Amino acid sequence: MNKKSTLASFLALIALLMYSSPFCFSDQKVLNPTTYAEKGYLTYDVKPMGSKIRPLIMRTFAPSLEINREFVLPNHSRGTKSPKYSPSSGKESTNFYEPIDGVPATIAVNLGQTLSYVWDTTECRLLYAWTDGFLDMKNYWGNRESGRRRGFGYVPRLYGFVFYKAQGIHPLHLDGSSISKRKAPRFKGYSLGADRLPTFDYEVGKSRISVKVEPGPSVQTLSILFSTSDNEKMKFQSPNTQVQVIEETAKSLHIVIRPNAGERFSSEVKKEVILKPTIEIGESLYTSLGCIACHSLDGGKNHGPTLKGSYGAKREFLESPVTLVDDAYIRESIEKPTAKTVKGYLKGMMPPYKLQPAEYDSLILFIKSVR
Ligand code: HEC
Repeated sequence: MNKKSTLASFLALIALLMYSSPFCFSDQKVLNPTTYAEKGYLTYDVKPMGSKIRPLIMRTFAPSLEINREFVLPNHSRGTKSPKYSPSSGKESTNFYEPIDGVPATIAVNLGQTLSYVWDTTECRLLYAWTDGFLDMKNYWGNRESGRRRGFGYVPRLYGFVFYKAQGIHPLHLDGSSISKRKAPRFKGYSLGADRLPTFDYEVGKSRISVKVEPGPSVQTLSILFSTSDNEKMKFQSPNTQVQVIEETAKSLHIVIRPNAGERFSSEVKKEVILKPTIEIGESLYTSLGCIACHSLDGGKNHGPTLKGSYGAKREFLESPVTLVDDAYIRESIEKPTAKTVKGYLKGMMPPYKLQPAEYDSLILFIKSVR
């Protein structure tokens, strides 16, 4: 291409960008955000969620949620702190640029309120999964008026309750050893099945692996289907995660995982330290932490016992002696649900919750108040 036509196509590109850019300053070009929302797009103000039949799939930077870099993200390179430079004084200042605390090149999927997850295309593994919300993209997309994203920290914020977080080396084992022990996996892309859910494909050496993630049979569980091109035996092993094999064939493995870690992240409700426990905080935690999915307030039986009138009631357990429902028992039930299992219910069904002391106390106050 000669210089002239390079210039011409450059100008054409600029014109095209100006014309099509949502950040264009001409008023006419800025579509009404509700029009976008009606079309099903994410906007700064409206965050429509996907659904199981119409998943929302986005390539994005993702929050790192303090995931262990050494074991979970070994193939990601990591920036280091570097000194800031001041052009006016010509000197390096004592301030530093911090590397961006996010994971690049991930694919975030939302299937509605029940499940969102982030797939990492570098490590070819599920990084984390959450319920109740999706991502707040403002940090990444910038501000509505200028499209400016510098100064927001770059990384989208997660909204909801994280119930699975990758820990340790790659959970997929082929013929007895984790694929972390082999050459780094290579992501080949994803395809959408007839059900419109994504299947991620990658290669480890000469084995080709496909993975599909769906909501599991009960809240805060995941159904994961692996298939492979080779006849190597597949196994899924991840710290603090109960794995139930649903079906295993020579070339496929279908599991349901029930993770043992809960953390709440939210961009709207700040993770403030609560000083004084209240019934109101307890009530909002009951909804935001998903207790509502398993415990009714009206006496109805669900996955777990109703909270109505439970305080002070007598409980029989599978292995332990009869107890009255008191503060200590409620706290233990939330923090370590496997310590005692109420008769007639499934052991290990309830996930443990790591909360602030005042959050446990607020839940206790709330449960006491449900008469
Ligand atoms: C996935 C379903 C599930 C979720 C979510 C869940 N629980 Fe449970 N919970 C259970 C089951 C099942 C039991 C009974 C078996 C047991 O004791 O582990 C139980 C037992 C309890 C008990 C003892 C009840 C009694 O009457 O003896 C309390 C208290 C409790 N849960 C509180 C909570 C709170 C608070 C939350 C939210 C922070 C929560 N649970 C979330 C399923 C769930």
